[in-house]
Amino acid sequence: MLDLKKEIAKMLANAIEYEEKELEEYIEIPKDTKMGDYAFPCFRLAKELKKSPIMIANDIKEKIKVDENIIEKIEVVNGYLNIYVNKETLVKEVLKQTYEQKEKYGSSEEGKGKNVIVEYSSPNIAKPFHIGHLRSTVIGNALYHLYQFLGYNVVGINHLGDWGTQFGKMIEGYKRWGKEYTIDENPIDELTKIYVRINNLCKEDETVLEECRLNFKKLEDGDPYCREVWQKFRDLSLKEFQRIYDMLGVKFDSMNGEAFYSDKMPEIIDILDNKGKTQRSQGAKIIDLEDKGMPPLILEKSNESTTYATRDLAAILYRSRTYDFDKCLYIVAYEQNLHFKQVFEVAKMLGIDEKYTKGLIHVPFGMIRSKNGKMSTREGTIIKLEEILLEAIERAKQIIEEKNPELEEKEEVAKKVGIGAVIFNDLYNNRIKDEIFDWDTMLNFQGETGPYLQYIYVRTNSILEKINYKPEIENIDINQLTNENSIGILKLVYTFHDIIKQAVQKNEPSILSRYLIELAQKYSSFYNDNKILIEEEKVQNARLYLTYIVGQTLKTGAGLLGIEMPNKM
Ligand code: ARG
Repeated sequence: MLDLKKEIAKMLANAIEYEEKELEEYIEIPKDTKMGDYAFPCFRLAKELKKSPIMIANDIKEKIKVDENIIEKIEVVNGYLNIYVNKETLVKEVLKQTYEQKEKYGSSEEGKGKNVIVEYSSPNIAKPFHIGHLRSTVIGNALYHLYQFLGYNVVGINHLGDWGTQFGKMIEGYKRWGKEYTIDENPIDELTKIYVRINNLCKEDETVLEECRLNFKKLEDGDPYCREVWQKFRDLSLKEFQRIYDMLGVKFDSMNGEAFYSDKMPEIIDILDNKGKTQRSQGAKIIDLEDKGMPPLILEKSNESTTYATRDLAAILYRSRTYDFDKCLYIVAYEQNLHFKQVFEVAKMLGIDEKYTKGLIHVPFGMIRSKNGKMSTREGTIIKLEEILLEAIERAKQIIEEKNPELEEKEEVAKKVGIGAVIFNDLYNNRIKDEIFDWDTMLNFQGETGPYLQYIYVRTNSILEKINYKPEIENIDINQLTNENSIGILKLVYTFHDIIKQAVQKNEPSILSRYLIELAQKYSSFYNDNKILIEEEKVQNARLYLTYIVGQTLKTGAGLLGIEMPNKM
């Protein structure tokens, strides 16, 4: 299989006697096709070689031995080498690779033997699954698929928030008033009510607060009653969360949340004590991080109960032993930046291999806002995710009802379109940006949206179905695809693998989302300008194959993002 970028890097490396791998990393794919198919910026080399970029560019151009089968021409522009590839070779390669690899096209084995943990979703039990956890779920799910597509061994962990002092309160409330609430029917709403009520009581009455603290201590020490009640909260909450995961099509390999580490924290505290890293401050056990410019990390509160941070440290130790991870990604909102900085700093004190501490990566993301501010209902309460997903499906159904009332399996399609719209909206912008939640934008069939991708995919599908198309490359005349119109699309299809690599390198699914929109738009204008089903067989064969690989790439790409394609809509 020919990798044009690699081939170019090889030629560049020979010309200036430089590390080929590094040069390959410098090669860019320009957005503007007037700047070549690939561009090589000489700026970084300029620093290292202490020569001007223009000099280096000219030097390379002079010395490079061009394989004409790969490169058509090279131009030097402002410290860049703009490289134009041999179109025939490119077309042949795309045809061959897409034909041979089918749904696997774009994947690779480069991650083979490497273990990656993606920790995502991680909602708090007995509380509503709110829209902030949606982002973690959707981004994490996409990264999970992306790493897997590159051959990594991926472990998806839902680090449930199922431990902490709040459960001391929940248990107390349940003990007092449990019978008054219909917990089994509507667990999360009812438990939330209990939580609010007990919290208020704690504010009025110190002794109740003390009772709650004691409950958590008892829970940590394994008291049967506390354990039983807690288990009930957990089971009921998970049942509710599962409905959401099913709607989103999200799965986990492990549901080991914070509670799982409850018996693994003493070891952490021991290690840190023995290394002389801990100290007492106002009764609490802390690790001073002043020399790192951070507030102290609290390992143990003054009443000896453990903390969120200690559980994260225990999780790191456990995961290093259990999964031998190369990377451990935490898909968590940027509000927790400081928390992870502290935890990662203290992890270095645990005496585990550097491989692990270097592999800890917080993948932060921004908030979700509605068009006119924060996301909340009119009463100011949190909007529940399940309601949002159901509304998305409902709205999709209405649109389908208007546009295509005859459609079969409307329910199924509406589900794919509605959920796809929410997921895509979440993944379209750089993750660190706050996300705007606006129904009209995300459900617009002509915008940069999930439904648009699905719509273009469905178009390709219906053309191919009409003639019962079977992909075939032997009968394709390459010259029919080297024209300006088709080559733009083929070039994009050719870069699919590179896009996935970039998305993984930056843990940034939006690189793939944007790519898919561009591909869909390019195909859409091709389709508007050119008839696909025509008399002339030569031309038709070429255009059909083009249609086929665009559909295939859109489907694979959307699948990696966690979006399902309908066959009709
Ligand atoms: N349950 C936490 C929350 O809702 C998120 C957990 C993030 N993961 C972690 N390892 N701390 O805020």
